[in-house]
Amino acid sequence: MDNMMEFGLTPQLPYSVEEAINRLRINISFLGSDVRKIMIISSEPNEGKSFVALNLWNQMAEAGEKTLLIDADMRNSNMHVKYDMKRNDGKEMKGTSHYLAGNAELDEVLVHTKYGKGDLIPNVENIINPSMLLESPKFAELLDSMAERYRYVFIDAPPLGLVSDAERIGNMCDGAILCVRSGITAKGVVRESVRQLERAGCPLLGIVLNRVNESKSGYYHGYYGKKYGGHYYGKYYGSNDK
Ligand SMILES: Nc1ncnc2c1ncn2[C@@H]1O[C@H](COP(=O)(O)OP(=O)(O)OP(=O)(O)O)[C@@H](O)[C@H]1O
Ligand SMILES: [Mg+2]
Repeated sequence: MDNMMEFGLTPQLPYSVEEAINRLRINISFLGSDVRKIMIISSEPNEGKSFVALNLWNQMAEAGEKTLLIDADMRNSNMHVKYDMKRNDGKEMKGTSHYLAGNAELDEVLVHTKYGKGDLIPNVENIINPSMLLESPKFAELLDSMAERYRYVFIDAPPLGLVSDAERIGNMCDGAILCVRSGITAKGVVRESVRQLERAGCPLLGIVLNRVNESKSGYYHGYYGKKYGGHYYGKYYGSNDK
């Protein structure tokens, strides 16, 4: 197959993490067919957005759904380095920033993977100010056209923090999953992120409580499901959570 990309995810996640991602996947699949473009976001750097985005994308694709992951963290992405992403045809890798800047065609940046029906648009070149690219109609058009081709389009975004990139992206998505680093991210910061998402008109679909009990038993996720529109309907814990 053309445009294949080779890379390896962690082969075996701890059971509790695997299970939490699985529950997240199942809950997303009950949100209805209008929820297609989903941003994975956090308040601060390093809360596990890319980890959650990749593993959720992987599970969804392995479950047989046509799923695309777009790396839209054009300021600070390290995914392609960290996971050693390489094209099988040996061509130079290009990604989101190349495409949006008009330096690559879609078929040069969109790659297939060995993970079920999972395709990916990596980001290979970080840039200093991606705001203009995110504002350009090309980005909105990309998301819309991909949402027609794929059942789910997950978007790995930069943190909400100080720059408004994530709000821009959220404005174009059907909803967001907020990753929160357990025991580290202050409540007020999380609340502000929820407000930012509201302002961006991006429904909060759920919160992943990530990196719980890191020191004791490895990483772990909890998932708080939120029904599209607002009410909690689920609260999920792994086996070792208190
Ligand atoms: N639940 C988890 N289990 C194992 N490793 C994890 C987990 N969550 C995060 N990590 C690891 O923690 C580090 C930070 O996670 P990640 O890069 O996904 O965060 P991020 O929010 O995308 O950061 P950035 O804001 O820099 O994009 C990575 O090395 C990642 O592999
Ligand atoms: Mg990241």
